[in-house]
Amino acid sequence: MSFTPVPTTQTRLNRSELFVPGSKPELFEKAIQSNADVICMDLEDAVAPQDKENAKKNVIKALNEIDFGKKTISIRINGLDTHYCYRDVVDVMENSGERLDLIMIPKAGVPEDVYAIDVLVSQIEDKTERSKKIGFELIVETSMGITNLDKIITGSKRVESLHFGYADYAASVRMRTTNIGGTNPDYSILTDEINGERLVHWNDMWHYPLSKMTTIGRAHGLRIIDGPFGDFSDPDGFKAHARRTAILGCEGKWAIHPSQVDLANEVFTLPEKEVQKAYDILEAMKKAQESGAGAATLNGKLIDAASIRQAEQIIEQTKLIETLS
Ligand code: COA
Ligand code: MG
Repeated sequence: MSFTPVPTTQTRLNRSELFVPGSKPELFEKAIQSNADVICMDLEDAVAPQDKENAKKNVIKALNEIDFGKKTISIRINGLDTHYCYRDVVDVMENSGERLDLIMIPKAGVPEDVYAIDVLVSQIEDKTERSKKIGFELIVETSMGITNLDKIITGSKRVESLHFGYADYAASVRMRTTNIGGTNPDYSILTDEINGERLVHWNDMWHYPLSKMTTIGRAHGLRIIDGPFGDFSDPDGFKAHARRTAILGCEGKWAIHPSQVDLANEVFTLPEKEVQKAYDILEAMKKAQESGAGAATLNGKLIDAASIRQAEQIIEQTKLIETLS
């Protein structure tokens, strides 16, 4: 390990984050009844310009009046390139008491984007004598966001998590796809002939940004959360997609429809088999160390001190889920 420790930010259960447009307050209750760990009331792209004011009023009313139980509550504000942005922060924070937990900042591109929101939030927290500090969720969804990732994170100590925005990212880097988080047969290779046959191998066009996010985000102790999967009538596609990002290191995924919430919770709760294997590794390594060995064999495979760290993080995440859910 480096001599520099990586402290983990605020721990939260974030397996599923259900989005509800602020302009559809009739959906708020349904969101509460779901098993979503986090509810994000959206003021940004799911709300049409003519509905922005009403959406904000709905969100303020909900934060004052609705019992959200122990769920984590977030709002997605409008981008810093719009005049809605500052008023989203000021109006919601000044008029909604203490219930809000997180503010999601879309399209973060430079550290100053994050810093600017922190300036507003800090002043309002001070003025309103808020006892609970607001945390930030950053959506990484532009070429600038990915390029400046390690710097953006340092824009505020409030940053808790990074979220990948598929559609905006695709638009920003001019990907030729309109599929929100899905696959694309054109992103594939044609193999050489194997036994007289050429095969089409589909590739994962989202791998680079997600992999960069898990690597850099974890260096700052952040949660990495996978973004939306647009086809809400395809549960198998959603789960396959989520499993992939779970393997990469993501802790959860957005749900844009209630039917995706339980799917996300299922995938991002570690399976018993994996947890048992982690305990088996610890047991086998304990025995190896007692006999003076640094490495051991478990089911015919090498395990060593790094396996202990892998196993420990699996057990730690499982305990966190058990404690918080
Ligand atoms: N939160 C809570 N409840 C929701 C919901 C959500 N995001 N989306 C749908 N529902 C409810 C519907 O009201 C409906 O309830 P009912 O059975 O009591 O009538 C039920 O779940 C089934 O909905 P369905 O008819 O399948 O979908 P829809 O056509 O009403 O809505 C969307 C589809 C995509 C428009 C809607 O799910 C939505 O607005 N999602 C959020 C989009 C968003 O916030 N995007 C920003 C982040 S990418
Ligand atoms: Mg977006």
